[in-house]
Amino acid sequence: MTGFVKNAWYVAGWSREIDAELRRVTLLNEHVVMFRKSDGSVVALEDRCPHRLLPLSKGKRIGDTVQCGYHGLTFDCSGQCVRVPGQTNLPASAYVQAYPIVEKHDIVWIWMGDPAKADPETVFDMPEFSDPNWAAHQGDALHLKSNYLNVAENLVDPAHVSFVHPTTLGSSASENVPVHVRTEGEAIVAWRWIRDAKPVGFFKAFGGFAGNVDRWHYYYLYTPCTAVIDFGSIDTEKHCAEEDRDQGVRIFALHFMTPVTETHTIDRWMHLRNTAQDDPEAADRMDAMFRKAFAEDQEILEAVQQEELRPAKRRPIRIAIDKGPLVYRKRINDLLELERTEDLASDPSPAFVYHD
Ligand SMILES: [Fe+2]
Repeated sequence: MTGFVKNAWYVAGWSREIDAELRRVTLLNEHVVMFRKSDGSVVALEDRCPHRLLPLSKGKRIGDTVQCGYHGLTFDCSGQCVRVPGQTNLPASAYVQAYPIVEKHDIVWIWMGDPAKADPETVFDMPEFSDPNWAAHQGDALHLKSNYLNVAENLVDPAHVSFVHPTTLGSSASENVPVHVRTEGEAIVAWRWIRDAKPVGFFKAFGGFAGNVDRWHYYYLYTPCTAVIDFGSIDTEKHCAEEDRDQGVRIFALHFMTPVTETHTIDRWMHLRNTAQDDPEAADRMDAMFRKAFAEDQEILEAVQQEELRPAKRRPIRIAIDKGPLVYRKRINDLLELERTEDLASDPSPAFVYHD
């Protein structure tokens, strides 16, 4: 297993998932306790009392502080201990880590790395979130028993839809259409057009197309864990150019991957659409199709993970459509190496000191 990039914004939950109650959230193998303060903002603290290690999520909120359920040590929203029952002095080491949080477009983002590097301006955004021609709709939080790298690879891979999603997102007509890959700023983009073919299930349901369509899939993957799948269809007779995709029925399926452990990833998915914007029932029907498709992905990704955990006989082979995943894995490895190097540089390994 490769490890986790820490200096990045990860989705800790949809806004609706976080309320005034203490809630344990696990990300990158770390337990975090989250809640909403009295002013409505979200707090995230290390979920482990520094005294006897009881998770703070087993304690209780007192105003905007958290009291440990074992001996009553109490921590404020910055993680500082403000009370140790039975004594007046507060040890300098009595604190828990506080994690930077940004809430945007009804999504709660958390920074798991060095707080000094957390820049709210770098939280993922798309202009369509604020565009009245587009509707945004949150779906589910899908728990996948698979490493996030496997999930991410699936989300930069238009080729699999012909085989994994034959009734919703793909069809056999696209099996042999080559995939192109390029990088575009921060994103790795894998895409292909299927020209002059019958509409697939999704666009039969939502496009109202009578004849053949041109269908596109653009998979944008942002390291470490955000994927945007731009897919749509348009009448073949319109001879749509790449830059005119807004003229068709266009959907962005967004996937925010949250690595929980090495073998567990939460995929929170939602969509943005330029059709049926004022029709919540259309959103629900789209969700039903997405659920069907993503359950198909889940079966594949969990089975792949099971095989990865078994003794390897040889290295997996690579084929032409793997270019996107290969670029992604290289970027992740580069980021992990960078963070390892920075950690070494910032840790002077102080000599052991003993104080009575
Ligand atoms: Fe898929």
